[in-house]
Amino acid sequence: MMDFAIFWDWLSFAVRWLHVITGIAWIGSSFYFVALDLGLRQRPGMPAGASGEEWQVHGGGFYHIQKYLVAPAEMPEHLIWFKWESYATWLSGFAMLWVVYYAGADLFLIDPNVLPMSVPVGILLSMATIGVGWVVYDLLCRSPLGKSDTGLMLVLYGVLVFIAWGLTHLFTGRAAFLHLGAITATIMSANVFLVIIPNQKIVVADLIAGRKPDPKYGKIAKQRSLHNNYLTLPVLFLMLSNHYPLAFGTEFNWVIASLVFIIGVLIRHYFNTVHARKGNPTWTWLAAAILFVIIIWLSTAPKVLTGQAKASSAAQAYVASADFPAVRDIVLGRCSMCHTQEPVYEGIYHAPKGVMLDTDATIAEHAREIYLQAGRSHAMPPANVTEISDKERALLVTWFEGAGK
Ligand code: HEC
Repeated sequence: MMDFAIFWDWLSFAVRWLHVITGIAWIGSSFYFVALDLGLRQRPGMPAGASGEEWQVHGGGFYHIQKYLVAPAEMPEHLIWFKWESYATWLSGFAMLWVVYYAGADLFLIDPNVLPMSVPVGILLSMATIGVGWVVYDLLCRSPLGKSDTGLMLVLYGVLVFIAWGLTHLFTGRAAFLHLGAITATIMSANVFLVIIPNQKIVVADLIAGRKPDPKYGKIAKQRSLHNNYLTLPVLFLMLSNHYPLAFGTEFNWVIASLVFIIGVLIRHYFNTVHARKGNPTWTWLAAAILFVIIIWLSTAPKVLTGQAKASSAAQAYVASADFPAVRDIVLGRCSMCHTQEPVYEGIYHAPKGVMLDTDATIAEHAREIYLQAGRSHAMPPANVTEISDKERALLVTWFEGAGK
């Protein structure tokens, strides 16, 4: 049993590592090309068909890049494609969905207090949300609405907010955020797989056959590329949010997710504008910071934090608190079946994340985490398997904030 748990943990780490590597490769090349494209310059005497060029210096050499829109007159001898970065990111992400959320569906995917369902139903529902997300997005892009970049983006934003809200009514908060990220990332990857690359292939086939390619294919690909550019940063936030229960585990989590999309767009807008040499819109950073403060506040709403979370407070204060006996009962009753040396909860073989909550000392040591994971947010117990009550959560908050003063 122990061996399997160790194997699974390492498998999870390996897949996560792979996912981060491929993600860096995809986002890196995508950011590079967006900046390159926006920074192109024109000059008289460029080769026929070239629409812009740029000189770059990097790693000891100079690069001279020219862009041909729609395509060069003839098919070049060597052509490098950028597609496996995207496909590998999606595939490794899907593998992680299995390792973390489908294999651990009881804890991380399904919350019976949100919507009771069996594990197979949960997994099917999860995949369905991802598939439907793409279909709805693709139909909107192909509809007459797709003619207006701005109109389309506004409607897509509305759809994403609705999806965010809907997901929080299907899954745990943690899975809701992850799925919003997975739906968005699937849209991005499917844009590459089903639209951008196939359109490029049509253009290449035309070149080889000596036909003049239709510029419409490039235009469609460009619009999808624009979406991918603006969706990148919110996806990163959503993927990382799993490690921050205040983001996903509180009441207004879907509003937080909606604001994150705006922050991501603001930051991309800053870089896009600078790369296009169209100014220096520093206001976007201010706006992003204000939205972030609102997010912090939302994560504590409706009750605003009364005491500051002081991690450094002496552990003794937590044990000495008049609330401690009740807190100890809660933690021993709701947490320690998993968070102990030899857990008794089925399927848990060692204290999760090494967090032990089975003695006065370990409870005091983890006071802040208990407060964040189970008091302020509903991240723990996972899917509330041990049925901690709101009153008990409130007591964890009172205890931590009182003793931390
Ligand atoms: C059913 C078993 C189970 C119960 C009950 C449980 N936990 Fe956990 N806990 C887990 C698992 C699994 C993880 C690892 C989560 C992950 O991989 O992100 C975890 C992680 C944690 C962490 C570390 C989070 C991190 O990412 O560093 C803390 C702190 C924690 N739990 C506190 C609690 C508290 C407080 C309670 C009781 C109110 C509780 N847990 C009840 C299974 C449980």
